[in-house]
Amino acid sequence: MFKPFSLPAIAVLPRAPKNGSPVPGLTSLYHKTVRGPYGSAAYPGNCSGELIKDLLRYFKPKRVLDPMTGSGTCADVCQELGIECRSTDLQGRRFDPADACDPASFQEIGRFDFVWIHPPYWRQKVYSNDPRDLSVCTNLESFLSGYRRLIANCSAALNPGGRLAVLMGDYDDREAGFVPLTFHTKRLAFDAGLKQCCTDIIRFSHGASSSKKIYRSSFIPGLHDTCMIFEKSRQRKTGTDAPSAHRRPECPSAGCIPTEPDSVSAGKATVHQKSSGNTPSDIGALPQKSRG
Ligand SMILES: C[S@@+](CC[C@H](N)C(=O)[O-])C[C@H]1O[C@@H](n2cnc3c(N)ncnc32)[C@H](O)[C@@H]1O
Repeated sequence: MFKPFSLPAIAVLPRAPKNGSPVPGLTSLYHKTVRGPYGSAAYPGNCSGELIKDLLRYFKPKRVLDPMTGSGTCADVCQELGIECRSTDLQGRRFDPADACDPASFQEIGRFDFVWIHPPYWRQKVYSNDPRDLSVCTNLESFLSGYRRLIANCSAALNPGGRLAVLMGDYDDREAGFVPLTFHTKRLAFDAGLKQCCTDIIRFSHGASSSKKIYRSSFIPGLHDTCMIFEKSRQRKTGTDAPSAHRRPECPSAGCIPTEPDSVSAGKATVHQKSSGNTPSDIGALPQKSRG
């Protein structure tokens, strides 16, 4: 006997202390229900532009990179705020195509004050059938291997003192079980030499497609994803101290092909518009239990 899905509830949030923040509404609990007129709500796995906008207003970067831009949510926010932004995605529908797991994609693009990434939550949603796509990795080890290269590439693209913001959700996989992707994100970012520079931001998942589904199985629904912000040291590291995306040999097009063992086995708003193409909504069957 299944109960119909529940109506949204009103929760009382803790009072936030007054402080000198230029964005006082930005706290560890991000609960805006609107996504803003940025990117496309129809793009699978799209995210709110409001969170990106608040982060950019808080950190005030001059140059932004989004190497997994999807429908271009970050690019649209940057355009509104007048911030230079380079946006690419493996699919290259609206933007230039580039594999964010390949260090070669980061050559000759300069350095950035802020990198925003919203990667696939492993195979919770499958975006293409391109073997370099992180969402088509057939096992967790290969996903984490590609994710490690992505984070190392982004770290290498930051100016000293620059920030990497990662939006990620934990994921309950039908075969692998519960996968704490937020934990792995932090582990890989620390391995890349980054430090977390502020609180996790718990983003309430308003509008998630899974919230309208009815499942036969019993589980505790995950109603949020997590934005983690890391900072690159202001001191330049040299020699063997320097974490590098290039230190170990990598297969250049190895998005999901493990090339190194993972320790857990397991421009101007560069809006290079492209002609419209198919959306990836109909690609791939997911061995997933629930939205994380
Ligand atoms: C969660 S979606 C990003 C959605 C975006 N934030 C938006 O609001 O539209 C993840 C994106 O990562 C892209 N992607 C997956 N593997 C990639 C890779 N190796 N290099 C670059 N992009 C990749 C997918 O094509 C997809 O567009």
